[in-house]
Amino acid sequence: MKVINKIEEIKKITEDSKKNNKTVGLVPTMGCLHAGHASLIKKSVAENDLSVVSVFVNPIQFGPNEDYDKYPRTLDEDIKLCSELGADYIFAPSPQEMYPNLEKFSDLTMVAPPYKFTDMLCGKSRIGHFDGVCTVVTKLINITSPDRAYFGMKDIQQLFIIKKMVKDLNFSVEIVPCPLVREETGLALSSRNKYLTPEAKTNALTISKALFAIKSGVERGITDTKLLFDTAMTVLAPSIELDYLEFVRAEDFEPVESITEPTIAAIAAKVGNVRLIDNIIIGE
Ligand code: PAJ
Repeated sequence: MKVINKIEEIKKITEDSKKNNKTVGLVPTMGCLHAGHASLIKKSVAENDLSVVSVFVNPIQFGPNEDYDKYPRTLDEDIKLCSELGADYIFAPSPQEMYPNLEKFSDLTMVAPPYKFTDMLCGKSRIGHFDGVCTVVTKLINITSPDRAYFGMKDIQQLFIIKKMVKDLNFSVEIVPCPLVREETGLALSSRNKYLTPEAKTNALTISKALFAIKSGVERGITDTKLLFDTAMTVLAPSIELDYLEFVRAEDFEPVESITEPTIAAIAAKVGNVRLIDNIIIGE
């Protein structure tokens, strides 16, 4: 497995592969890889002749008060994991390589998903976040021309928005959704779990517990999302600061008041300074 830092170099490698009728899989990540990322990489390796894992902490998707500077960077460990999993290349560009003119941020062409889908859930408190995500994902897709690109259902709004972007803008790539991976405790795996102290982790476990309580509520026949919201609140540790807990239709992300078809219960909450997200599909 090779690590490539330059756009032109990875572009040539993937273009040559495609000329030789070899399929290319892309797994975009920000590194600090864990078993959640590994599940995407394994799927790409199984389904494509060549797999590229991008490792890039994308500055333009972080707000001014967010954790860009302290986001965990563990490239040596990431390289080890990717090579064990059989990936062919890590593409790990510098911010300068991706955005030569980053100081002049306002000069950058951005890909903006519809306001309707960014003025909700994570987008509401992370202004401009999904513009930054769509812009970097567009660049990564243009650079590596993948046949398939792999995204986790952990970031369910990101997955929905990227699928929509690819459809609306006629990208020639198949977006492959991958199931959310949890620890045995139920906690959704996240690079940000590294920030949690043991005490914070105990509190963080109540986030997935709240979602599981919603699911069992639905299984017992509760359909009113207000009641389901209240059930979840009784489970969530009082020290946790809720950002949102919303119910949206899985098909089109329309808010729902009653569970009559597959619905996503999505939550974001702060445990101390650490913002975590999770979701569960109910009403299937
Ligand atoms: P990152 O948070 O590193 O996640 C990379 C990919 O791994 C995303 O598609 C995410 O949904 C998936 N992933 C993370 N944790 C997961 C889990 N527990 N189970 C399943 N999949 C999981 O998401 C990003 O980076 C960035 O926004 C990116 C798309 C790379 C653009 O910069």
